[in-house]
Amino acid sequence: MNKATAIAHSNLAFVKYWGKIDHTLNLPSNSSISMNLSGAQTTTTVEFDDTFPADEVRIAGQPASAKSAARIAKHLDLIRATAGIDLHAHVATENNFPESAGIASSASGFAALTLAAAAALGLNFSERQLSILARRGSGSACRSIPSGFVEWIAGTDSETSYAASIAAPDHWNLVDIAVIVSTEAKSVSSSLGHKLAEHSDFWDARQAILPARLDRVRQAILDRDFHIFGREIEQEALSMHAVALTSAYEQEGRWNSGVYYLAPDTLELLIHVQRWRAEGLPVYFTLDAGPTVHLITTGSNQQAVIDAVKTAQSSRPWNLLISDPAPGAYLVSDSGAKG
Ligand code: DP6
Repeated sequence: MNKATAIAHSNLAFVKYWGKIDHTLNLPSNSSISMNLSGAQTTTTVEFDDTFPADEVRIAGQPASAKSAARIAKHLDLIRATAGIDLHAHVATENNFPESAGIASSASGFAALTLAAAAALGLNFSERQLSILARRGSGSACRSIPSGFVEWIAGTDSETSYAASIAAPDHWNLVDIAVIVSTEAKSVSSSLGHKLAEHSDFWDARQAILPARLDRVRQAILDRDFHIFGREIEQEALSMHAVALTSAYEQEGRWNSGVYYLAPDTLELLIHVQRWRAEGLPVYFTLDAGPTVHLITTGSNQQAVIDAVKTAQSSRPWNLLISDPAPGAYLVSDSGAKG
């Protein structure tokens, strides 16, 4: 077999990866915890052949931009070097969610690419090895390899920095309702955000609390303790944003006091969440490096949260993307069946 297709889901971090100790190897400053998202997946086919004169990458049926093609070729080089082969590849990849959704497509993208390329080359990698390879493409991609609720163990070098499952998708019926309040491209990429983070006044304070937070979030998932979990993830999201908001930087000769990923509607929704909870609706939020608000609730309250969002939304162009906990990356046969 020199061709394989893999599916991987994106993931949402509850304890965030924000800051790296090695920007080439994507070694994080801290461990992180996430859930794979059923509503956001990438399907990737990789074929190697000695008749291909060069790598060719298509995204949603169209030739990839030079930047995306180069990032994918670089990742293929890593897998080719690991396998000790020198063949070119054709890659066809597709997301089932819009790029503007504020859901990281690099996580599902590099997880699917890693698994498909390794399988196409007949490499029988363990989940841990696949996770390590996926991490090299984009840090958060390592968490899309294992199933369900996942912890990325920070480690101290490339071989010890990998993700593993904490609990299966059916362990807990958490729901993520992503409210996409803006489709504007972010002005500071998360890769740059990682670099700037340690310049924040609050960096040391954040690092100091993370070990205990990781323990509490992991335990709350295992215990299915929604309220402990919710409190921790809200504080955690704001802690990451407190660091970002105070990470001063220069861009094109201009000084900025911090990285603002939030939009006015983001803050409005966070205030609604406090009110909804006061009214008895069990819902908490988390945020990534963008304005999308992820509302976290349980299955039985999903519709009530959607109704609350719709009322608050009025006529604004907010879109929703709803996810349950999803499996890890897996191979599919050409017929689309799980391999
Ligand atoms: C805010 O994985 O996109 O989503 O390793 O540079 O590709 P690179 O960064 P990336 O960072 C994700 C940051 C985050 C938090 C998280 O997913 O843990």
